[in-house]
Amino acid sequence: MTGTMRPEALAGTVLDYSAGFGNEHHSEAVPGALPVGRNSPQRAPLGLYAEQHSATAFTEPRAGNRRSWVYRIRPSAAHPPFRPLSHEFLHSAPLTAGAADPNRLRWDAPPRPEHPADFVDGLFTVCANGNVLHRTGVALHWYRATRSMEDRYFTDADGELLLVPELGRLLLQTEYGRLQVGPGEIAVIGRGIRFRVTLLDDAARGYVCENYGQPFTLPELGPIGANGLAGPRDFLYPVAAFEDREETVQVVQKYGGGLWAADYDHSPLDVVAWHGNHAPYKYDLARFTVLGTVSFDHPDPSIYTVLTSPSDTPGQANADFVVFPPRWLVGEDTFRPPWYHRNVMSEFMGLVKGVYDAKAEGFVPGGASLHGMWSAHGPDAETFERASSQELVPQKIEDTLAFMVETRWPLLVTDQAHAAPHRQPGYDTVWSGLHRHFTG
Ligand SMILES: [Fe+2]
Repeated sequence: MTGTMRPEALAGTVLDYSAGFGNEHHSEAVPGALPVGRNSPQRAPLGLYAEQHSATAFTEPRAGNRRSWVYRIRPSAAHPPFRPLSHEFLHSAPLTAGAADPNRLRWDAPPRPEHPADFVDGLFTVCANGNVLHRTGVALHWYRATRSMEDRYFTDADGELLLVPELGRLLLQTEYGRLQVGPGEIAVIGRGIRFRVTLLDDAARGYVCENYGQPFTLPELGPIGANGLAGPRDFLYPVAAFEDREETVQVVQKYGGGLWAADYDHSPLDVVAWHGNHAPYKYDLARFTVLGTVSFDHPDPSIYTVLTSPSDTPGQANADFVVFPPRWLVGEDTFRPPWYHRNVMSEFMGLVKGVYDAKAEGFVPGGASLHGMWSAHGPDAETFERASSQELVPQKIEDTLAFMVETRWPLLVTDQAHAAPHRQPGYDTVWSGLHRHFTG
């Protein structure tokens, strides 16, 4: 019996999903596989093994507690030893080959990998903060894949993975089922979940926010009220779909900053049924309800927060994931692009498509910028001139999608990102044309 389909049969099809952020989801790929009334009966149905995945401490408050029960062909414990696996471009915090840098940094989109590369092979770390062993901070990577993971699986014990595709669609086959995700959408694969990535187009490129800290959750809404920003019902969880493969496969896990590999004699995606709230999910960023001023000025960019990973200090996020989607600008007597500012938080930005409204050029799809702690930034000279003199009629920004990961600690930049040929060494010059206008 098998619960899989060939990847090409899935391309373009609509997968089944279960909706609702953080809900207690439940799913079975075979009728009767999910126990009723208890999590761990003396004998689980259909000869399956029961196993709990605890993504938060057992005793964390109910509102943030994440755990799931899975019912699988073999327990995860049945595996041989892991051995270290080298990776040239994947790094973790604290970085051993990186440094804090007060400069504004920007990169073009990274080139295709020189050699055929799957999702894991093509990871390239740009910057990171915190410490994987303390479960604090984030790392920002590019992924660049030119081939699918066929007999290879990945899992990250160091953090959950927020994927932001920029080029190409991905089929994410996970322990909990399948997600199809492409540009304009995001996927979050929780800490410790095994998965493999199949390319549904010729190549795939995008961003990964590896969140070492508390799991991403929806931000509080405060005076906004019960609605707005990302709606819980628009987060889609997979339904159970399992692989029953009895052949040698490689399972790669990231653990304590390094990669480790083990050769299994079966697929680790052998979960036939599951229930719980620790599971991968996807979200279409076009569903985000954008809020903004209808009078003058504009709110802080926190108004665009899709997901937040809290830290131990209220209001100081380990990481906020923020998007700048198409939206109307209507502010009167207002400088409408993001204003000039300096910020104690550190800001990593990427662009999925179009043009970001604070930059006339140079910030390209697939590229990235880093404006670290207190670094001064804002519109380039061309944007300043335009925005200072334009007629302020209602204006719609269309065909654009930028995002930002904002984090409370400075992001250290990897040496490889500093030295990368696709870094733009002349980034500072975008502000060099800002002439004085003082008339006093
Ligand atoms: Fe900023």
